Amino acid sequence: MIAAAGSGERLGAGGPKAFVELAGRPLLDWSLDAFRAAATVTEIVVATPPGEEGLVADRGVVAVAGGAHRSESVAKALELCGQEIVVVHDAARPLVTPALINAVVERLASDEGAAGAIAAAPVTDTIKLAGDDGEVERTLDRSGLWAVQTPQAFRADALREALSDPDSLPEATDDAMLVERRGGRMLIHPNAADNLKVTAPLDLRVAELLLRERA
Ligand code: CTP
Ligand code: MG
Repeated sequence: MIAAAGSGERLGAGGPKAFVELAGRPLLDWSLDAFRAAATVTEIVVATPPGEEGLVADRGVVAVAGGAHRSESVAKALELCGQEIVVVHDAARPLVTPALINAVVERLASDEGAAGAIAAAPVTDTIKLAGDDGEVERTLDRSGLWAVQTPQAFRADALREALSDPDSLPEATDDAMLVERRGGRMLIHPNAADNLKVTAPLDLRVAELLLRERA
């Protein structure tokens, strides 16, 4: 399931981020290529901005109107998904690879008691906690801290339950946190930081360089 229903406000491209051009094609298409090529993937559902489902009509995927917040879009895509293991991915991460998708699925499949497995990179910056006045309260111990990415693989039942409380969806910055809250065991698949998220214009330039280098 690919979450592509955001408006891309911080990118400021004047249209939905998933359809902004990146290295010659819409941002979303880079992720679609990876999902199509991943041996563990059998069907693809894409959440688009409401009313824009037609933008993916020619791509051989199931389209669904997304919600107002990211996890609401994921919940709507999940309704159309008949698989036991599902992978959630943000269209905003165009550098995802088939190998990474397969790796999170296989990590989850190899641990029967786990609810999910997520790609994440070790935090390399020093992380400080500061008040609203900009004054540092303290420095956190970064060992054991991970910067979480997508793809995230879940047992569909666990994800369905985690997304079932509509009040919890608006504040969720990933789906795994909703599963964790209900006591679901989430596993980390360590990954490089280059699976970056396109948020601001700088990210688009870096992603373009990395994609052209890969080609
Ligand atoms: N997303 C979604 N439905 C929403 C909001 C976000 O499917 N209602 C998707 C985006 O399309 C993106 C991913 O969730 O692929 C991560 O969200 P983010 O990077 O915040 O994208 P946008 O919400 O589009 O950007 P912004 O917050 O700057 O508006
Ligand atoms: Mg957003």
